Amino acid sequence: MTHTMPAPTPDRTRSDDWWRHAVVYQIYPRSFADSDGDGLGDIDGIRSRLDYLVELGVDAIWLSPFYPSPLADGGYDVSDHRAVDPRLGTTDGIRALIEGAHARGLKIIVDIVPNHTSDQHEWFQRALAAPAGSPERDRYVFRDGTGPDGAEPPSDWRSHFGGSAWARLPDGQWYLHLFAPEQPDLNWGNPEVRADLIRTLRFWGDLGVDGFRVDVAHGLAKDLSEPLRSQPNLDRALPLDGTDPLYDRDELDDIYREWRELFDSYSPPLMAVAESWAPPARVWRYARSTSLGQAFNFELSTAAWDAGQFRAVIENGLESARRTAATTTWVLSNHDIVRHTTRYALPAGIDLDAWLLGGGADPAPDRALGTARARAAALLMLALPGSVYVYQGDELALPEVSDLAPEQLHDPIWLRTDGAQKGRDGARVPLPWDATGEHLGFSTATPWLPLPEAFRDLAVATQDADPESTLNLYRAAIRCRALLDPSGDIAWLDAPEGALHFAHPNGWRCFTNFGDAAVSVEIGERILGSAPGMDAGVVPPNATLWYR
Ligand code: GLC
Repeated sequence: MTHTMPAPTPDRTRSDDWWRHAVVYQIYPRSFADSDGDGLGDIDGIRSRLDYLVELGVDAIWLSPFYPSPLADGGYDVSDHRAVDPRLGTTDGIRALIEGAHARGLKIIVDIVPNHTSDQHEWFQRALAAPAGSPERDRYVFRDGTGPDGAEPPSDWRSHFGGSAWARLPDGQWYLHLFAPEQPDLNWGNPEVRADLIRTLRFWGDLGVDGFRVDVAHGLAKDLSEPLRSQPNLDRALPLDGTDPLYDRDELDDIYREWRELFDSYSPPLMAVAESWAPPARVWRYARSTSLGQAFNFELSTAAWDAGQFRAVIENGLESARRTAATTTWVLSNHDIVRHTTRYALPAGIDLDAWLLGGGADPAPDRALGTARARAAALLMLALPGSVYVYQGDELALPEVSDLAPEQLHDPIWLRTDGAQKGRDGARVPLPWDATGEHLGFSTATPWLPLPEAFRDLAVATQDADPESTLNLYRAAIRCRALLDPSGDIAWLDAPEGALHFAHPNGWRCFTNFGDAAVSVEIGERILGSAPGMDAGVVPPNATLWYR
């Protein structure tokens, strides 16, 4: 495959608006690169690979949590939000990483987890030692139980990781945890909680980060008035008027307005992106310029490989961005979902939880098909206006590791559902850097999650040397995207059933064939294709062509 425009990426990261059409690379620090040979990825490991990210052409890095954590939920259980896990590095190490990134024109976004802390957080430990009704307990959500002797939970609220969202203490009181019991929910009605998070944002802002990814952004504000309202169904579609007792409440506006004032006091202003599972019709609220400014649009990650579904997702995303001064975002995979190379290798509509539970054997994924579609989806996504979030390993077309043994699993979903759901570890397996060596260049020690043999052929060094590799496709596509400018309004063009076709105002066109038969497109010049050939405009099944 030859690529027509391998020129260097211009520095688009200087303006205040650098994030609007940025390509952001998500790093799961424990699985990226291990610098000190303990089997755990770390901050210096990331720093040692910055040139890899420059060559990939991304604008920014989003770091999943690297804070001190007992790892009850992969680091999303934070015991000190203004420090670095000593197993991963130091604050000086983060400073050096930020400096190294900035020197290369890369921005750094860090993950903020405001809905809950770890149960090992100093505040929760103090709350446990303090009596019912104390100011220490008021930073969290403590309640007496119901039923005889208060032995029943205060309400029917459910944890995302299985079971009741309430855990009981030996003194009889209960505390709320919408995730694992080791992740007690903070009380956002308490001014001390609000002030402390501002201190945290300021701490990282002053250290030099460029923005924040806000975990469970739709969860902070809760209706805790007595009697607690019933909300037993996690899967229920949330109301469109912001009146659910637990999620997506209108009081969030006030919390994020205060954050936004802080963000705007920096120059350039800090950006933020909400992880909000609010209904698609309300996600735009988090993206307003008085709020976080941008919100994840997860619809691509749940769409099947289908032209109609992709078109609807694209239209919704662009429409939602039009409601605010923001841009939308595109996400195919992240650390919480089955990798898309594998999703696209399986029949549409399959129950992924059941498939994972069976070790990923039935049905066997069609790896070649999954990879072809993943490459086509990447090119389609990278042709769209808005920010593209790439999860580490997407650029290598890594598959989900579906056959981790039960004793290798760490995810609280596995533990809390008593093995009914396998959880997310299969998307968090460390990256293969080299094809040689026992741990494929990730570490000299046994990695915290083992790299499968299937990763060997996908290693960075191998793909680097192969002009047809997915890694080189991503590199070319990200560079072309920057040069072509994705920010214009796209217009849909005629396309046969099972294909999507659109044009940018500058003449850049993108054609994706979701169907089973090759389609001929009349082209001027081919820019880039997700499959070999296509110079004459013949787009094979499961392929995307950029042309003008
Ligand atoms: C977010 C994170 C996920 C974590 C959860 C609780 O959804 O992406 O990994 O388990 O929040 O913090």
